[in-house]
Amino acid sequence: MKQNTKLYETAAALLAPGKGILAADESDGTAGKRLQMVNLPNEPENRQDFREILFTAPGIEEYLSGVIMYDSSIRNTTDDGIPFADVLTARGIVPGIKVDLGTRELEGFKGEVVTQGLDNLAERFKEYYDLGARFAKWRMVVTIDEDETPTDEALVVNSIMMARYSQIAQAAGIVPIVEPEVIHTGDHSLEKAEKVTTRATQILFKTLIDYKVDMQGLILKSSMVLAGDKHPEQTPADAVANATIRTFHMSVPHDCAGIVFLSGGQTPERSTENLNAIAKLGEQPWPITFSFSRAIEEPMLKAWDGKKENEDKAKEVLLEVCKNNSKASLGQL
Ligand code: 13P
Repeated sequence: MKQNTKLYETAAALLAPGKGILAADESDGTAGKRLQMVNLPNEPENRQDFREILFTAPGIEEYLSGVIMYDSSIRNTTDDGIPFADVLTARGIVPGIKVDLGTRELEGFKGEVVTQGLDNLAERFKEYYDLGARFAKWRMVVTIDEDETPTDEALVVNSIMMARYSQIAQAAGIVPIVEPEVIHTGDHSLEKAEKVTTRATQILFKTLIDYKVDMQGLILKSSMVLAGDKHPEQTPADAVANATIRTFHMSVPHDCAGIVFLSGGQTPERSTENLNAIAKLGEQPWPITFSFSRAIEEPMLKAWDGKKENEDKAKEVLLEVCKNNSKASLGQL
C-alpha cells in the first residue's frame, strides 16, 4: 500500500489546480515533422535544441506539472550535459515517459489497429524510473469510419493491452496515463463522436476495473468530443463542453485520479477555448486539465523559426501559451 500512496501523490502533483501537462513525447520521426515547420532537418542536434527550448523556458513550472518525454529525450541532456529529466525534476515538473511502441494492423478488422509495447515493459519501467520518470503514457487509436468502426473487438483488445500496461506501471511506482485517442480527422458528426467516445471509454474503464487497476493512481487522457474536422458544422465551444462532460459522466468512475486532454490537431486557439468552456461548466468529480502537444508547441515553433537568435522569444511564447491554458483549465478566460 505504501507504493500506492506514492502513486496518489504523483497523480495529485500532476493534477494540481491551474497546471497541466506538456506532451513532448514525439517519436524521433514525429519530432522531424515539427522541425520541418521551421525548415530544420531531422537531426539529433536539432531535436535536442527543440527539446531544450521546451524544457528550459523560464517560468513554465508555474503552469506545467509534468512533461511527457520519448525514449530518446529522457536519455538526452542539455548542452551543458544535465539530463533533461533532472532539469525538469529540479524545477518541480514531474518527468513522464511514453512507453507504447505504436500501432499495428489488427488483422481481420479493416483499418483498425492495436497498440504494441508490452514485451519487457517491467524492465523498461525499472530503467525509466531510475532515469527519473514517475508517470507514463500509452495511446490507443480509435478511428471513426463506417457505421461499424470502431468495433467492440478492437476496443476490447486495446483495452486489455492498456490494462496490462497500467498494472505493470503501478507495480513499478509509475502513474499510468491511459489515452484512448478518438481521431478528430473525418466527416463524422458530434453525435457520432459522443457515441464512440462514450463507448470506447466505457469499455476501457470496465476492463481496467476487471484487471484491478487502482483507479486513484490512474489518469485518463481523452479527446474532446466534437465533430470531425471535415464535417460541415464545426462544433461550437459550449457544445463541445457539454458533450465532453456528458461523455465522462457516462464512462469515467469517480475515483479515477483525473482527466487530461489531448489537442488532437485542433488549432491552439480552439483547444484553449474549448478547455475554458469545459472548465466553465463548474466543478466535476475529477480534476480536469490539458496535456497538449501540438497546441502548445506550434506557437513556440513559429516564434523560434529554427534560429538561435529567436530562442528567447520562443521561450516567452511558450510561457504565454502555458499561462493561457492554465487560465483556461480554471475557466478564467
Ligand atoms: P496533441 O495535443 O498534439 O493531440 O498530442 C497529444 C498527445 O499526447 C497525442 O498522443
